[in-house]
Amino acid sequence: MINIALLGFGVVGSGTAEVLTENKALIEARLGCEYNIKYILDLRDFPNSPFCDRIVHDFNTILNDPEVSVVAEMMGGSHPAYDFTKACLEAGKSVVTSNKEVVSTFGVELCAIAKAHGVRYLFEASVGGGIPVIRPMINDLSSNKINKISGILNGTTNFILTSMRDADASFDAALKEAQRLGYAEANPSADVDGIDAARKIVILAALASGKLLDPKSISTTGITKITLEDSKLAQSFNCSIKLIGYAETMGDKLLAFVSPRLVPMSNPLSRIDGVFNGILVDANMVGEVMFYGPGAGKLPTASAVVADIIDVIANRDADVKPLVWESATDADLADMGEYSCRRMFVFNTMDGVPMLRGAQVKECGGVFGVMTDEMTEKEVEKITSACGNKLVSVYRVL
Ligand code: NDP
Ligand code: HSE
Repeated sequence: MINIALLGFGVVGSGTAEVLTENKALIEARLGCEYNIKYILDLRDFPNSPFCDRIVHDFNTILNDPEVSVVAEMMGGSHPAYDFTKACLEAGKSVVTSNKEVVSTFGVELCAIAKAHGVRYLFEASVGGGIPVIRPMINDLSSNKINKISGILNGTTNFILTSMRDADASFDAALKEAQRLGYAEANPSADVDGIDAARKIVILAALASGKLLDPKSISTTGITKITLEDSKLAQSFNCSIKLIGYAETMGDKLLAFVSPRLVPMSNPLSRIDGVFNGILVDANMVGEVMFYGPGAGKLPTASAVVADIIDVIANRDADVKPLVWESATDADLADMGEYSCRRMFVFNTMDGVPMLRGAQVKECGGVFGVMTDEMTEKEVEKITSACGNKLVSVYRVL
């Protein structure tokens, strides 16, 4: 009998208990052994839940119980999630998590601790919700060098942008609905300001390069300044605006950033809507591979958490090669100024605006969208300072 403890009984934690219970017979048959949810740690009691008899409030009950060998952390936030994870690994318990804040901030240390104690630290649910992407990147793309990753990595913002585009919904109304559906972070600023996507792209970039960037160090722009006019201008250029996490290897350097981008209709990411996420990986042998599915939500995310629990149990006697990451240093970072792509500039007047290479102009609601040829970040900076307050915003094109 394998005893499992769950940390957090919110959206993902309750979903994980549900998946482990609903599909118990099927999972146990596949594993060839039985399991039991022994404890669920939360701050609250859940008197009406069928799991109310497992609820505990003292983490030490779990830590000090030698029968618990697998712990799923789904509390969110850095502390005490990181501290509990570290203590469990050091006590010889494997930990699985949906918490990308902890993985992206402490992943190097936690992977090393897991290795040192001969246990596993797995985080399939930390990127792409229910989409299998972490394990396929580690295992199935391991014969490839990864050149580029571009992804819609946040379900909440994709839900908001799709509602704004297709239903003319207001930003606030769409965010409220995403919160009601359980997609948003406890503090939705992490979603709408791009912070969550930054955490996820550094995790994916680390899988590709072995180097974990500090998510706070990468250029990150969210979706709060996108207007309905911008969205319509994008459509008039046959594009959709999507919040994109992007990483690229430039020689032996790594570039990563998050920003809203115009995605041309010819790119499959442009057609990924609502809470769905999509991750396009450009690898040197297989070419382009896309991962697609529900990027947030109770049961999809729980499906990924349980996949990790199953992996831990199934391989408990196997000698699995541990994941080893290093922290990226400044020397690993590519110069963002050299990054080049097409742009859409949005101006509030065309009077006195300089001619831009390859420019096509469209108008919507009193603002002008100017689509240009490729230019570097450095060139964009020059144009930005030359145009002053005539320039409302600039979008990168994917
Ligand atoms: P919720 O807020 O719904 O659940 C978190 C639960 O943990 C709450 O019940 C909370 O209690 C409890 N908790 C918080 N701190 C403690 C503590 N110190 N001790 C015990 N219990 C605690 O969050 P989600 O389930 O949505 O998210 C959980 C994690 O999964 C986060 O890291 C999130 O980023 C990630 N994630 C979420 C997805 C989603 O779709 N929701 C998808 C993918 C990942 P209380 O409410 O009383 O504070
Ligand atoms: N808040 C996150 C999102 C949850 O909306 O994508 C999934 O990681």
